[in-house]
Amino acid sequence: MARKLAAGNWKMNGLKASLSEATALAEMFPAPKVDILLCPPATLVAAMAAALDGTKVDVGGQDCHPRSSGAHTGDISAEMLVDAGCDYVILGHSERRADHGESNALIAQKTIAATMAGLAPVVCVGETLDERESGKTLEVIRHQLSASLPDAVDFDKLVIAYEPVWAIGTGKIPTLAQIAEVHDDMRETLSARYGDDEAGKIPLLYGGSVKPGNAPEIFATSNVDGALVGGASLKAADFAGIVKALE
Ligand code: G3P
Repeated sequence: MARKLAAGNWKMNGLKASLSEATALAEMFPAPKVDILLCPPATLVAAMAAALDGTKVDVGGQDCHPRSSGAHTGDISAEMLVDAGCDYVILGHSERRADHGESNALIAQKTIAATMAGLAPVVCVGETLDERESGKTLEVIRHQLSASLPDAVDFDKLVIAYEPVWAIGTGKIPTLAQIAEVHDDMRETLSARYGDDEAGKIPLLYGGSVKPGNAPEIFATSNVDGALVGGASLKAADFAGIVKALE
């Protein structure tokens, strides 16, 4: 059985004052029945990790460089995220694939770097609307999974997030049958590569317009072990509704 995880991706949102939302969330869940993660922008990672130290809410980065140090202006290594207090890092988000031209091969290198540093990588996959409408969804997701994941992963840490690009920030979500189809297929694809026992440990998150209102039905869907949440993770009250639906 995969563990359950409610993960919040703050993207490029949040100033120091927003840390009060993170601490409010932690106060609401002193003993959560599921894992809870917040991934703030890089400027807030260390401060959030310090503010949440001793609580049950983990902190993660939103990206890392494949190398551990060096002349890479503007980048952050997995080791630096660990040093700042992170347990997780989001990798291959569709916004990074689109805005920064990240390839599956680069994401695989980053996944290796994160794993070697001891971070839990949250590797994102997802089809565009064109790909969905031309019936290529499963083919795209299988290819992204196969090319973005290395052979050697830590099955106690690896997390996969399925985020249809067209559902991100749009208020639209796939039908529950469509979510189940992709999640079941991801589990089968991972089983074929890594074996049933190892693949069964990997939490498969759904992401894209998850809100407290639609979270219960999404979490009741086959092979959905949690969510990667954008907008609704910015306010403690909204995110708490999603965490409660997963508990
Ligand atoms: O990584 C989370 C994400 O892309 C979904 O964003 O705002 O649709 O929940 P949102």
